[in-house]
Amino acid sequence: MGRDVIIACDFPGREPTLDFLSGFKNEKPFVKIGMELFYSEGPDIVRRIKDMGHRIFLDLKLCDIPNTVKGGMRSLAGLGADMLNVHASGGSDMMKAAVDGLTGPDGKRPILIAVTVLTSISEDRLKDELLVGRGLGETVARYAELARSSGLDGVVCSPFEAAGVHNRCGSGFLTVTPGIRFADGDRGDQARVATPAAAKAEGADYIVVGRAVTAAADPVAAYERCVAEFREEG
Ligand code: C5P
Repeated sequence: MGRDVIIACDFPGREPTLDFLSGFKNEKPFVKIGMELFYSEGPDIVRRIKDMGHRIFLDLKLCDIPNTVKGGMRSLAGLGADMLNVHASGGSDMMKAAVDGLTGPDGKRPILIAVTVLTSISEDRLKDELLVGRGLGETVARYAELARSSGLDGVVCSPFEAAGVHNRCGSGFLTVTPGIRFADGDRGDQARVATPAAAKAEGADYIVVGRAVTAAADPVAAYERCVAEFREEG
């Protein structure tokens, strides 16, 4: 699996999303559909964007009892998404149930990854609110190990945690990293940001880029810049 850039299509509905994607004439970017778009438009938006030739990361972050997550994944499996996710904090039985629900009768399934610790959770919040005393790095690494031993393909983590996850779980275990900005860009509400080149240097397999592309004056040029910086050798 090669390095790739995933565009977070955080739009409120179908029209602005399709309008945005219609700007891409020569390439079909990998697209992330999250809660905002999925909850407003339903499963049809996944089928529609898939029919347009895009690969899709369906970022719904499932977390519930194993049986419910299994059923949820079974329902989502038919939509044709290429990548889906759960929260690692749901535990190993839940993650195994997600694998089960997503796997078709032919034994095949899309990529399944786990969110480790949300990048909006600070080390202080982890300790004071969630009562997790082991620290952020150790918690992310442990959750990644749990995801791997449960049969998942990778994790969502910060670019700065990608190298640690690969050390623990092997280079073939995928790291999908949001929080990406250009060196000359606005960091917005993200606390820990990395450039595409820095994410590459940390070993990230996929970067998730939202506003640096979607809010750019020329989104196609911004996407192409992102791809060039992330894939550039050396
Ligand atoms: O606009 P921006 O590049 O900050 O968007 C990042 C995308 O990645 C958003 O869709 C956000 O929900 C998602 N994300 C994140 N941090 C995580 C998990 C997902 O920023 N830990």
